[in-house]
Order: sequence, then structure tokens, then C-alpha cells
Amino acid sequence: MAKVKPVETLTEDEAKQELAHLADVLVQANKAYHTEDAPEISDAEYDKLKSRNAAIETRFAHLKRADSPSEQVGATPADGFAKVTHAVRMLSLSNAFDAEDIADFDDRIRRYLGLGSEAALAYTSEPKIDGLSLSLRYEGGKLVQAATRGDGAVGENVTANARTISDIPDTVSGAPEVMEIRGEVYMSHEDFAALNARQAEKADKQFANPRNAAAGSLRQLDSNITRERPLRFFAYAWGELSAPLADHQMTAIERMAEMGFATNPLTALCNGPQEMLAHYAQIEQRRSDLGYDIDGVVYKVDDLGLQSRLGFRSTTPRWAIAHKFPAELAWTRLEAIDIQVGRTGALSPVARLQPVTVGGVVVSNATLHNEDYIAGLDSKGNEIRGGKDIREGDWVQVYRAGDVIPKVADVDLSKRSDKTAPYIFPETCPECGSAAIREEGDAVRRCTGGLICPAQAVEKLKHFVSRAAFDIEGLGAKQVEQFYRDGWIREPSEIFTLRDRYGTGLQQLKNREGWGEKSANNLFEAIDEKRNIPFGRLLFALGIRHVGEQASNLIARTYGTWGEFASAMDGAADFEGPDWEGLLGIDGVGEVMARSLVTAFAQPHERESIDRLSAHLTVEATAAPDTDGSPVAGKTVVFTGTLEKMTRAEAKARAEALGAKVSGSVSAKTDLVVAGPGAGSKAKKAEGLGIDMVDEDGWLRLIGDA
Ligand code: IVH
Repeated sequence: MAKVKPVETLTEDEAKQELAHLADVLVQANKAYHTEDAPEISDAEYDKLKSRNAAIETRFAHLKRADSPSEQVGATPADGFAKVTHAVRMLSLSNAFDAEDIADFDDRIRRYLGLGSEAALAYTSEPKIDGLSLSLRYEGGKLVQAATRGDGAVGENVTANARTISDIPDTVSGAPEVMEIRGEVYMSHEDFAALNARQAEKADKQFANPRNAAAGSLRQLDSNITRERPLRFFAYAWGELSAPLADHQMTAIERMAEMGFATNPLTALCNGPQEMLAHYAQIEQRRSDLGYDIDGVVYKVDDLGLQSRLGFRSTTPRWAIAHKFPAELAWTRLEAIDIQVGRTGALSPVARLQPVTVGGVVVSNATLHNEDYIAGLDSKGNEIRGGKDIREGDWVQVYRAGDVIPKVADVDLSKRSDKTAPYIFPETCPECGSAAIREEGDAVRRCTGGLICPAQAVEKLKHFVSRAAFDIEGLGAKQVEQFYRDGWIREPSEIFTLRDRYGTGLQQLKNREGWGEKSANNLFEAIDEKRNIPFGRLLFALGIRHVGEQASNLIARTYGTWGEFASAMDGAADFEGPDWEGLLGIDGVGEVMARSLVTAFAQPHERESIDRLSAHLTVEATAAPDTDGSPVAGKTVVFTGTLEKMTRAEAKARAEALGAKVSGSVSAKTDLVVAGPGAGSKAKKAEGLGIDMVDEDGWLRLIGDA
């Protein structure tokens, strides 16, 4: 594992930089996992990054970002589904990894409740199902709504799809008038294998694992497709209730079972950490025979009265914890190191492995991250793996956690042959031959070929048509790759001239393999539909480095129109002057992102390509929020401390919708500080500056949401 600098030794600047980096990485990881059902990093890696983020935030409370990953659950719901605001937020769980963490969990709870170490305190212990959570709303005993978690506050309405799941009863008897049952949708190993076999027959997409298959199946716009996918459901929690189900967790689960919900048979009541750990060991032993994926064990305080006294932190309950299983490992031969070139030109080394089974999955490729990682160094130049480098021909340890790209974690020097040589990372791009340069401070070497590099051009096109970008039906990654290879589409603007160039009488396109008259026509129509595009989507689609979906929308909100924005980018070309200052002044746009944006617009090649594209489009302006009568319009607001009724992200979005500017730090320019419990230095500073301060309820009253 990489040696990272201990949090205690970080300088303030380093902490700030790392928090910004972690926010970026975690937003992307959340999106890949929750919105795209295609995780990019392992769960264990994710957990590690999140704990690191939390540790830095604890030490540098004043540097906590307004968009802190600690305040986020999941990702915003995808377009295409109606949105459902959860009556009670759907939360996440904090994680534990060993016996010590469990003892700490028990201690923390006892301290909070004022219970001595001898007092009896029971917990339920049950498998943590590796699927996706779903909230089912029953009114008068009838299922009226099913919603995914989404970002915890707002999920996707998947009612029609949930009705196809046989474990989910349509009507229940003896239930409270309003009852939300929550649990996990998953797919069994057997059904997953059969589904992939059917997909293969149809030459359709293969799912990487049961979780992705379950998520992809539940989140289908056409419920007839969901019906053909055998999904299952375990109930383990609840949301809004007009009357309590029981007074203990265990009896509530029994009540759910009586009402006809599937509940997990491995749920047990444990008296204290020792019994919890014993139950964990039992579940871990049975893991491979269960027939479905689990990734740990969840412990919950059994007494619901105590649960409500313990309450919640911003995104997790104090009364529950997930005890995760360790990641899975195997040793195998590294046959070769290949280099892949990504959208931004990054050269990524990929390990080609002698196939090996890791936790039930055959692995033949793994990531090697970057050239330093291969050399045995982390991004700061510190040794990792005791400085051991990785060579072609080496015996390597492959690490895989859950459902993500496996990585090469270690190397066994005792098995290294004399014939191996240190790996020499290429200094030219293997795809286009251009120089591959590593800039100071960048862990990654990048191809300088820009759009002349076929790999970059294709990856940019794939990004351009992806779901959060142009999302053109019938034009996915596979199709753009084909069109690029054949020279039909070389850059985004050419998508919009495809009909003129190849559509005449549809002759050429419909004669291509995989295309008929109908699909060709549909494609042209789908392309036409996207000639009107929201500003934020267009900006995100350009795939400019460091400019993600959230930032694109933020920029769109700030500038309003594409024309306004493009001329501001021209004005900022020298990285100085009011346009540059204006860009940097946007809360959420840092210098690195700003430079990347301005550079993209200033480079003649890239700019011409953007202009060629925008000539085919009507870019929809992003309306400034309607802030008439808003008491906080134009005010600068800072949120600090723990918010209990909303996440930071919700609070920020709501404040911005009301025309306020949300800032991460208190200064003389701050108009109002909203301080929750635990507010520290920021509240003190505000007091010193005589700035108005309210608590969360005061804020809600002020904006009329109380
Ligand atoms: S309890 C308020 N119990 O794990 C907490 N969650 O990492 C409600 N999960 O969002 C969650 N099995 O999707 C709970 N037995 C279980 C679970 C479980 C899987 C999922 C759930 C949750 C996620 C948190």
C-alpha cells in the first residue's frame, strides 16, 4: 500500500490541496458507482479515501469544504426517472474494519448513552448485502411508491420496476397506515450468470458483477426489461412510519417478515462485541455458499428507544456500523505491462496477468496506476512496498475488493528471475508517437498529441456521448469507436454533420454492419434531438480536464449563456484581469480548474473544434435562480458544524437556489453563519467579526422552510 503522509504532519496548504483532490476523486467515484453503475475504484479504496478525508477534516476543521465528501451519500439521481424526495433521508453507514473498531463503536455508544461498561447492551448483527437500497412506501397496506436512494434526499422513482420483484409484496396486512420499508435489491449468483449468458447470446453488454446487474436492471426506464431480470429484495430498515413497527430492531424485522417481506435468515441478536465478532466470523465462513454477494456485517443497537437517543451524524446513524470484509487477494504472474491512453492523454499502465481467481472472479487485467507506482514510489516520492519495483515476468499480488478494477498490490522478490529488467515507462505515446510529458507535480505522464492522437480523440468522443453529456440514443461508446475508426466521425462536431455526409437516402449508413434503415433513421433523429443542449451539459461534454459535471453546472449557472462564458474565457486568456478574477471567484472553481478551462479555450486547435461544434447547436441558457423576495439573495452564507436536517450539499443547493453565495470560509464579506453543533473555529471567527449567526432551525425559519 502507498505510504501517505500522516495527517498529523500535513501543513495547512497540503491539507487544503488534499481535501480538494479527495473531493474530486470521491465525487467521481460516487458518480461511477451510483449513477453509472460502473465503479472505478474498489470499495476498500473508497473507504480509505473517505476516512483520510474525515481525518484531515477533523484536524483542520476550518478547511472543511462546502462540498465535503463527508456530507454526501451516493450521487444525484439520473435523468430519465421522476424524482422522489424521501420523507426520511436514506442514510449510509460508517465502516469498521477490525475488532478494535467494533470495541470503539461499543464504547462510543456507551459513553453517549452514559452506560457503564458492565450494563447490558444488545445489537442485531446481519449480513451487509452488496446490492442497492430501495425504499418502498405503503399507504393503507398498498405499495404506492418505490424509490432508489439517489443522493439520500432525492431518489429515483422506480415503482413500476419494483412491482416486478416477487420478494416485494404489493399489499400487506396489519401494517401502519403509512409505512416505508427499506432494504436491498440484489441478484443471486445463479441469476447473474444466467443473465450474462443470455446477454452474450444477444451480443449484448456483460455485467461485471451481480451488484451492477441488479442496479442496471432496477434502473431501467422500461419495466418490461426489469421483469425479465430476476431481482430479489431483503428488508432490513424503514423510513416514515405512522406508527412504530416494534420497540426493538429484532422484533421490527420479525414484524416485517410476518407482513411478507424477505428478511435475512442470518440475522442474530448479540450481547456485546465478543458475540458480534463471533457472528461476523460465522457469516464470513458461510459467505461463499450464500449464493449472493455480501461485503460485510451490519451491527445495530437493538433497542429502538436507544437508537433514537443516539440519533444521527450528518450522513450516518450513530447506532449502526458496517463491519466490512477484508479485500480479496491472490498471487499470479505479470505477463506484460500495456499502456492505455485516456481522454486527457494520460498514459495508464495496465497489468496483463496470467488469469487467476480472486474472490470467485477470474482476473486477467489489473491497474498499475502510474509510472511511480511501478517504480515503487508514491506521488510524493516516498517508497511504497518497501521500494520494490514491478517488472514484466514478476510474481505479483492482485487485490480486488467487491466489484472494481483489480490492482497489483505487491510483488514477491524471491520469485523474480534474473532475466527481468526494470520497466521503462514510455516517453512517447504508444498510439500516436507524440512526446508523452510529465509535468511537475503530476503523477501522470500525458501524450501531447491532443486530437491528433487517435486514443485521445476516441476517448473524448466516448465521453462526449456518455450519459451525463450528450447522451445520444443509439450512439454509445461502441458506435463512436467504430465511426472513428472508419473516419466518419473524427470530432464531436462531425456527429452533427453525419446525416449530410452519410445519410443521403440513408444508403451508406443503413448498409453498414449493425445498421438498418430504421436504426439509421432513429440515430439521425436522436442526434437532431440533441441540437438543443443545456449549457452545463455542453461544457461537461467537452471533457476538459478537471471540469466535471458539477463544476460545469456551476459555471453554467454563473455565466448564464454560452456566449457570455466564451467571451469571458477569451478575456481571461492571459490569466489576469477581471474575467480571470471572476472565474476564480466562483466558489467551487479552483485555480487548477480555471487554468485548464482557459487553456482549452485559448488553444487554437481545441477552440476551433469547440466553435465548429457550437455552430451546430442551440445552447440553452441556464436561468439564474428566481430569487424574488428571497431573504438571502446576494448574501454570502457559511455553513459550519453538523447539520441534522439536511446534508451540506442540500443546504448549499437550497441556499444557492435562493440566490445566496455559499462560501467555505468566514471573512469580513460573510453576511451570515449557520452553525450546527460542533461548530468550531469558523463560529468563533464569525463572533469576533460580529457576523450574524443562526442555528439550523433559525436558518430554516429564515428561508421559510421550517
Ligand atoms: S442499514 C440508516 N442494513 O449498505 C442505515 N444497510 O453502506 C440504513 N446495506 O445504504 C442501512 N445491507 O444500501 C443496512 N443489512 C443492512 C444492509 C445495508 C446492505 C447497504 C445499504 C446502505 C449501505 C451503507
